[in-house]
This record gives sequence, structure tokens and C-alpha cells, in this order.
Amino acid sequence: MAAQSPSPDGLEGVVAAHTVLSEVDGQAGRLIIRGCSLDDLAGRTSFEALTGLLFDGFFPDLPEDLTPALGQARAEVFAQVAHLDADLATRTPVEAVRALMARLEDGDDLATALRLVAAPAVFTPAVVRVQAGQTPLAPDPEAGHAADILHMLHGAPARPEEVAGLDTYLVTVSDHGLNASTFAARVVASTRAGLTSAALAGLSALKGPLHGGAPGPVIEMLDEIGAPQNARAWIEAALARKERLMGFGHRIYRVRDPRADALKGPVRALAAATGGGRVAFAEAVEAAALDILKAHKPDRPLDTNVEFYTALLLEALAFPPSAFTCVFAMGRVAGWMAHAREQIAGGRLIRPQSVYVGPVPRQAA
Ligand code: SDX
Repeated sequence: MAAQSPSPDGLEGVVAAHTVLSEVDGQAGRLIIRGCSLDDLAGRTSFEALTGLLFDGFFPDLPEDLTPALGQARAEVFAQVAHLDADLATRTPVEAVRALMARLEDGDDLATALRLVAAPAVFTPAVVRVQAGQTPLAPDPEAGHAADILHMLHGAPARPEEVAGLDTYLVTVSDHGLNASTFAARVVASTRAGLTSAALAGLSALKGPLHGGAPGPVIEMLDEIGAPQNARAWIEAALARKERLMGFGHRIYRVRDPRADALKGPVRALAAATGGGRVAFAEAVEAAALDILKAHKPDRPLDTNVEFYTALLLEALAFPPSAFTCVFAMGRVAGWMAHAREQIAGGRLIRPQSVYVGPVPRQAA
């Protein structure tokens, strides 16, 4: 069959899978996960319940409540922290977490999936603490997932609004259609390589600054701007240098990413303890950015995406910006596992075509 002309760059607009997991409506600015709107889930459903919702139908032995099994999985993967040696501790947090995740054996059953959901949640606090000269803290299998993450990070019980903020974040970013990291996970799952391999592919794709690597640079941008009166000049200079504003624009959303506002609630709740000045400053920067981007790209709506308020939330929870991508992975890994199982259940090997535009040997011409 003659190869058709290649799809638009980046497969924009190409449908590569049918899924029951989530729908991203870019025109309406709406996210649906397993038939529930984001508003019904964020702040109302625990990450454990959301993971069960995503996994429903894809694992025959799925328990009613995943909390005990996920707690047990956190305890199991903590053994890998012993391999967080001095060399690994010199890497970026996402590279160190990826190396520890790679030690988990491959498989495609629920126990493997839960260990992979637990892995970034356990390895990230350990890496952050070791890089700060502290000893890693073991998980408490009896605790809730978000509460245990914060306890492993800070060594003390988190305040209720902190636990609620992290739980809301993990639910909000758990699944988002066929984004680059989920597509990468599905491609690897389609070869039957196993769930650990699929999670490693997803994490590697997520690491990029165009994708899950964006929230850390949002903090750098805010810190460089420093005060609201500097925002316009800083933004215009960045765009003049052909730089991208982290936290803005999206391949699918042509309006505001609904997750930005889903996270603003927890951000405001956490900011109340410190007077809210940081949020007010960020909102001023956001307003300036939206105004300038509209003039910069009149034909391409560039609105706030999930990463802008993610950065403020994770900063308020005292994760270092270098670990923000790892926290993103703590939520998204649940989506990667569900998509991998969906791909295994019904999909074929993912193998698109390409059009060869290179030189042709003379005799073959
Ligand atoms: C995530 O797909 C998902 O669902 C991803 C995600 C998920 O949950 O998995 O939602 C998570 O990755 C959110 C996005 C995080 N990334 C950032 O915030 C980085 C900044 N954003 C951009 O790099 C960009 O908007 C992308 C990568 C997110 C989307 O880019 P596209 O769809 O490939 O669009 P494009 O690069 O073709 O841009 C179109 C034009 C370009 O101008 P020209 O080169 O044609 O002149 O818009 C410009 C871009 O330069 N543009 C921006 C911009 N985003 C696009 N200009 C300045 N700042 C930006 N943020």
C-alpha cells in the first residue's frame, strides 16, 4: 500500500486509540475521567478511589478499596531505596526516581501496577531527603497515600489542608487522554514489554519541559520577575528571545485548562496560612502573560495550563522545584497503568508508517 503523506507535525489531530479512560475537550475546556467530570472528582475523591476508578475492568482481582493494597505496595517498594547510592543522589530527582523504578520487576498484574503507583510516591521523598543530607523515611502502610507522601517528605504529620491539596493534585493530573507520556506508555505496553517498562517510558516522556517538566520553570519565571510591576517587561523580553512561557499553551486546550482552576482552590487554602501574597503576585503575572500572549499570537489561543498553579501548589507543599515532575508522575502513573492495560486488552502493536525522504541508491532509482 502506498504510504500516505505524513500526518501533521506531532500527530496533531490524529486519533491513535479509542479509550474509556478519559476525554479532553479542548474547545469546551472540559476533562472527563471514567464518565465523571473533573469537578466531580477534584477535592471530592481520594487518589486511592480515583485509581480504583481508572483500574476498574482492567484488573480482575481489583479490591473494593485500594487503600490497604497501595499502602502495602509503598512498604514493599521502599526496599529499593537502599540502592539510592551517592552516585544516584547526584542526578536530578526524576533521573534518580527513574533509576529506582527500573529496579522493579516487569509484569502486567495488579501487584506490579500498585508497586509502580507507589514507586514515585516513595522514591521522590527519599531522593529529596538524601539530596538535602537527610535520611529517607519509611512509609506507613496504614496511612492514606497523600498523607504518607508528605510524612515521608517532611518527617512530620502534614496539616489537613496540605493532605487535601496533594490529594486533589494527584487526582487532577491522574489521566488526560493521549498526552505524550501516556502515548509513550501505550506504545511500550503494545509490545507486551510489561507495566514497569511502560511506566519508565511514560516517566521519560513526562520529564521533558514541553510536557511534565514545565512546573519547575514556572517557579524560576516567578522568581526572576520578582514583583508584579516587572511582569510585562520580563514576559515581552522572553517572547522576543523566542522563549516559551512555562504554564501556558496546550496542544488540545484552546481555552483555559480546567485543571488550573481545580488547583486554585487548594492553592488559596494553603496560601491563607501565609497571607496569600504569593498567589496574588502569580495572578498578576498570569494576567500580564495572557494579555501579551493574545497580542503575540492572535491566531493561536494560548491560555493557562495545569502547570502554572501546579507550581504554586507544590511550592506551598515544600517540594523542591527540581522534584515537581516526580510529583506529577505520582498522579499520572495511575493513568499510565490503566492505559497500558487497556492497550494490552484490546490494542494491537502500535506501529505507524513513515514516508522515506532520504537518498535512494542509484541502481534502485
Ligand atoms: C502538559 O497533552 C497534554 O495533555 C499535556 C498535559 C497532560 O496533562 O499530560 O496537559 C500536561 O504537558 C501541559 C503543557 C506543559 N508545557 C508547558 O507549559 C510548556 C509551554 N507550552 C508550550 O511549549 C506549548 O504550548 C505546548 C508544548 C504545550 C503545546 O505546543 P504545540 O501544541 O505543539 O503548539 P506549537 O509549539 O506548535 O505552538 C504554536 C505557536 C508557536 O508559534 P510559532 O512557532 O508558530 O511562531 O504558539 C507558540 C509557539 O511558539 N506557543 C507559545 C507557547 N506555546 C505555544 N509561545 C509562547 N509561550 C508558550 N507557552
